[in-house]
Amino acid sequence: MADNDDFDKYGIITSIDDITPAVIRAMSHAENPRLREVMEAFVRHMHAFVREVRPTDEEFEIGIDFLNGIGKTTTDKYNDAILFSDVFGISTLVTLLNNGMGGPMEPATALLGPFWRMNSPLTEHGASIVRCPTEGPAMFANMRITDNQGQPIAGAEVDVWHASSVGMYDVQDNGQVEWNLRGKFITDADGRFSFRSIRPVGYPIPTHGPSGPILAAQKRKPQRPAHLHFLAFKPGFKTLITQIFLADDPDIERDVTFGVTPHLIGDYKRQTGPAPAADVTGEWFSLDHTLVMVPGEAVLPKPPID
Ligand code: BEZ
Ligand code: FE
Repeated sequence: MADNDDFDKYGIITSIDDITPAVIRAMSHAENPRLREVMEAFVRHMHAFVREVRPTDEEFEIGIDFLNGIGKTTTDKYNDAILFSDVFGISTLVTLLNNGMGGPMEPATALLGPFWRMNSPLTEHGASIVRCPTEGPAMFANMRITDNQGQPIAGAEVDVWHASSVGMYDVQDNGQVEWNLRGKFITDADGRFSFRSIRPVGYPIPTHGPSGPILAAQKRKPQRPAHLHFLAFKPGFKTLITQIFLADDPDIERDVTFGVTPHLIGDYKRQTGPAPAADVTGEWFSLDHTLVMVPGEAVLPKPPID
């Protein structure tokens, strides 16, 4: 026991140059090698950042307030840590690094965002996910899921969710019923599912947390271009999390979350002929799109909100 008592000593800090190696040494006894690797890189990069930026004491306080603000702003219905990662490009970076099979494929994935919910209502093919009166032109989506050889994936569970025409998700808006503009579909033998909704519109992300003033100071519009979210799950395949954007959205080249890549632009078409539903007259929109899943582990993300 006595022999081991000294194992966690790292010495006295005699100069500013001692601090980084001391912290790394203090953390070096973690048994989990991945924890050691991640923590060491974190400390190296954070210390290098502090040495480069040399924050004043006041700036350091602002940074601490920023982190505390993320915690204070987060509730069961709103996840500000995800929003922070999104607007600093970290979520998109992680999804692009973790997809595309390590290089041979362009990743067709996008960040999850803070508004995915588990247990969306199971919905029949062709049915509407508009669950209360919601403004907006009708949209009929015909979706297909295949593997990377183009073979249909039957029995995949696919969650769809999007914001309403006032730019809010159900959980943000007392004017919508719960689960409005959300549904879960099971793909048929040909990998297909279809649904009715309204054409998505772009919306401003919440700015009541500490990321809001930073975006304003950087003169960044807190805007996301119009999109639908999809999460497809099937054992044997990597869970696919993606978004499909409208090409003609004025903010398509300045998504505040850096989520738009060429693979994620959808073929949303304005239609004026007869619609698939008799109650729709005048213009409506169609979307025909194939999502590709690759072999891998089917793991669901932790839901950002309840
Ligand atoms: C979303 O697409 O749902 C989203 C992403 C980042 C921040 C807010 C919303
Ligand atoms: Fe969204």
